[in-house]
Order: sequence, then C-alpha cells, then structure tokens
Amino acid sequence: MAGRSIRILLNGEPCEIRDVPPATTVLDWLRTEKRLTGTKEGCAEGDCGACTVVLGIPDGGGLRHEAVNSCLMTVPQLAGRALVTIEGLADNGRLHPLQRALVETDASQCGFCTPGIAMALFAFLEGGEKPEVETIHDALAGNLCRCTGYRPIVDAARKAPRAPRPAPAAPVPEAGPDYEAGAQIFLAPRTLDELVALRTRHPDAPILAGGTDLGLLFSRERRAFDAIISVARVEELSRLEVRDDEIEIGAAATYTRALPVLDAEYPGMGELIRRIGSRQIRNLGTIGGNIGNASPIGDMPPCLIALDATLVLRGPDGTREMPIEDFFLDYRRTDLRPDEVIEAVRVPRLAPDRVFRTYKVSKRYDQDISAAIGAYRLTLADGRVTDARIAYGGMAATPKRAREAERALIGKAWSEEAVAAAKRAIADDFAPIDDFRAGARYRAAVAANLLDRLYLQTAGAADAPTGVFAL
Ligand SMILES: Cc1cc2nc3c(=O)[nH]c(=O)nc-3n(C[C@H](O)[C@H](O)[C@H](O)COP(=O)(O)OP(=O)(O)OC[C@H]3O[C@@H](n4cnc5c(N)ncnc54)[C@H](O)[C@@H]3O)c2cc1C
Ligand code: FES
Ligand code: FES
Repeated sequence: MAGRSIRILLNGEPCEIRDVPPATTVLDWLRTEKRLTGTKEGCAEGDCGACTVVLGIPDGGGLRHEAVNSCLMTVPQLAGRALVTIEGLADNGRLHPLQRALVETDASQCGFCTPGIAMALFAFLEGGEKPEVETIHDALAGNLCRCTGYRPIVDAARKAPRAPRPAPAAPVPEAGPDYEAGAQIFLAPRTLDELVALRTRHPDAPILAGGTDLGLLFSRERRAFDAIISVARVEELSRLEVRDDEIEIGAAATYTRALPVLDAEYPGMGELIRRIGSRQIRNLGTIGGNIGNASPIGDMPPCLIALDATLVLRGPDGTREMPIEDFFLDYRRTDLRPDEVIEAVRVPRLAPDRVFRTYKVSKRYDQDISAAIGAYRLTLADGRVTDARIAYGGMAATPKRAREAERALIGKAWSEEAVAAAKRAIADDFAPIDDFRAGARYRAAVAANLLDRLYLQTAGAADAPTGVFAL
C-alpha cells in the first residue's frame, strides 16, 4: 500500500510532503511550493549548478553531506534524506562562516550562481577535505559563474574556517514505502525480487537510478508517468565488493562510491570518473545508469569492455550473464529484455602482467561529454603483447572494440612499429561521424594517436603524462 506523504528534514526541520506529483523536480517543489527561491534555475539540465542543494545522508550515526542538482532530482528521491538549501545555511540571521568568507573575498557579482556555489562549497567543507586549489576546483567543476571569476570564490573556500555543522535536533525520518500522489505512483522496492516483479507489472514505467539522464524527462520535457520505478533503495544493487579475482559493482552504486575502489585498481579510471559531470552528477549518477543509457559516448562502457567485464541481468526467470560488449546492439539499443533489469557488473581485477589505461578527449577538461574515449588492456610477457583488448566510445553507434587494432598488436613486440600498425588498423575498425563534439577526421586521428600515448606510458617513458586529457 503506497503512502501519500514523504517525510524529510528540510533545513533541520521536519517537513511532510503531500500531493506533489512524483515527477516533480526538487527544484520546482522548493521554488513554487515552499517558496524557497534562493535555489536558482539556470539550465535545468545539470550543467550550471545554480540549483545545487545538499543532501544529508544518514551514515554511521551522523550525516554525510553530498551536493546534488535539484533540477534533475524528483521529490520522492528525497525520502530518507535531510535537505539543506541556501536558506538553511545561516543560523538565526548569522551568516555561515562560508557565506562570510564569500562576502569578504568579493566572490559574487550578479549573484545568480552564488547560492549554488555556496552549497557546493558547503558540502565540500562538511566533507572535511583539505581546501587545496585542486580539490576546490573539483568541488566547483559543476558550478558556472559567468561574471565574478573563480579566484575570489576559491579564496573564500580556502579562507572559510572548518566549522562542521551540528547534527540536526530531529532525526532524519526513515524512507517510507512507495509514494502516491494523484494518479501517479513512485515505486521504491527494497529487494531485487520486488524490483523484478514491479518491472513485469509496469512494463512502461521508467526505471530510475540517479536520474542524471532520465531527470531531463522531468525537468525539460515535463513528462508525467503513471508509475516510476526507483532502483535506489534495492540493497543488492548498491553493493560494491572487491573479491580475489573480480570487483562486483551493483547497478545502483554511484560514481562517488565506486570512484575510490576503481581508482585503486585500474590506473586512469579515478581521473576519468572525476571528469564525469561534476560532483553533483557523480553523487547521484550510477554505473548501472551509464550502461542502461547505452550512449555511444558514455565513459564507463569502453572501460568495462576493455576490462572484459561481465554484465549480470535479472529477470523473472532468474539471472543471465553476458560479456558487456554483447549488451550494446545498436545506437541506444541493448539486449536488455523488457522484463529485465541490470543487476551488477563484474570486472576482472588486473593481473600483474596486465596494464590498463583510459583516455577521455573532450573540448573542456571539466564537466564535458567525451568526443572520444579510448580504453586499453594489454597483457605483456617478455616485451611481447600476448593479449590486447581495446575499446572506444564516440567512434561508432555503440561503444565498440577495435578488433583490427588488437590483431595488429597481439603476438608483436610492444614497440613503436607495432603501435604504428595498430594506428593504421584503427581506420579499418571505425568510420566515425561528424557532430558538434568533433569531426570524423579528428576522431579518427585522435583515436589512433591515443595509442602513442598508451605506448609512451606503458613502455616506461618516465615523463609521459598519465590519466585523462582534454584537447
Ligand atoms: C551535466 C551532466 C554531465 C554528464 N557527464 C557525463 C560524462 O562526463 N560522462 C558520461 O558517461 N555521462 C555523463 N552524463 C550522463 C549521466 O550522468 C550518466 O550516464 C550516469 O551514469 C547515468 O546514471 P543515473 O543513475 O543517473 O541513470 P538514470 O538517469 O537514472 O538512468 C539512465 C538510464 O539507465 C536505465 N537504468 C538505470 N538503472 C538501471 C537498471 N538497474 N536496470 C535497467 N536500466 C537501468 C534507466 O532506465 C535510463 O534509461 C552526464 C549527465 C549530465 C546531466
Ligand atoms: S539548473 Fe543548471 S544544473 Fe540545475
Ligand atoms: S556572480 Fe554572476 S554568474 Fe556568478
């Protein structure tokens, strides 16, 4: 039986939400129902950060604070969370130390971006990270300021005293059961079996994970659905397990949770994930959503293909496993059956004789979608390539292996000659398209040239840069 209200803490006070259609965004609800208009709408698609609010997530007896884009988040996703908006930062009219620092460093001009910037930095400071320029920039990558410039904003973040917020007097209410308003229902199953049963019962309902892709249906397209099925509270889907031979990532694990685990195992992956959207996006966005979205320019699929990951799908008849590369059939078409959900992805750990690298190429370094992305796993023995798995995104209608380039390398000495042959073979692997992100010739050239970078890094050139590159 679905509940007709959601109880949360809003700026430290208990708040009951009723009669709000489930597809309403948190941003719309705040501004129109609660009249909390400090949170701004700039783009309504997760890019500008003007709508940033902070979630307090119960964690080990306290609250973990995460910045999110309220324009992409639906109201029922707030269940079980404390919500802090810009109106909640000051204490009885006394500015929060961060707000004072923003004033003192003249970090605001027109002020439109300022609430979002304050909230992104509030989450950053609550997280207890060292306020170094690089980490502050990372925390601000999802917030655009068009008039002040970032120097005084960064100064404010460095200057603001660490003053962790006291825990709210009231506890965060438990997330209730499903939520219903009007003719619409938000289904939030707790187990995988319940999720699969709901999938069968509501074949047309969207499956919602973090909503950083799907959220556009609500914020831009204003679509309403009879039912929305959320995977976020299914415990089995949020698991993240490092085993002897593989890492299993539940489909609903967010980038923020997966980042340290994947970074520790696969060189370059941490830097890649740090460039997926912004912290706001990574706090909501999931690995399963990136696979389910099946975009040809999604960042995780090429890595998972190169790493020979196995996708675990769950349907009414049980579990089905497949190599992830077989999942992507055509442009945004996958092998997922209408009654199935993505359960997890299992990624083999890196054996000592294997190297892995990934390179993302985009117009901007931060908060930009890939023009092309390459991922490479080589097995090397006595200077020879005994196995190669190479996958690219942005080069075809799906994320896809470069089998000709792999063939050009396998059995050869890992040398400039082998790389030159693999670069030529890339032309046989792909016929990329022109679009606003990059031209076909550019994509073809860059995909081939990334092999040089791979060689320079893995053949031991000490000064070769590592990680992810924007051109
Ligand atoms: C500003 C911005 C920047 C972005 N930058 C990047 C970037 O740099 N790189 C990148 O790759 N992506 C980027 N994205 C896209 C997006 O963040 C990712 O694709 C993300 O992984 C989606 O995850 P989600 O949990 O939000 O998915 P959702 O939006 O909830 O869902 C996405 C799709 O997957 C399906 N789905 C989700 N979970 C399951 C499941 N368990 N079973 C079956 N289907 C499922 C949904 O039905 C939907 O079709 C960006 C998005 C925004 C808004
Ligand atoms: S309004 Fe621009 S990110 Fe939400
Ligand atoms: S102060 Fe004007 S956009 Fe930042």
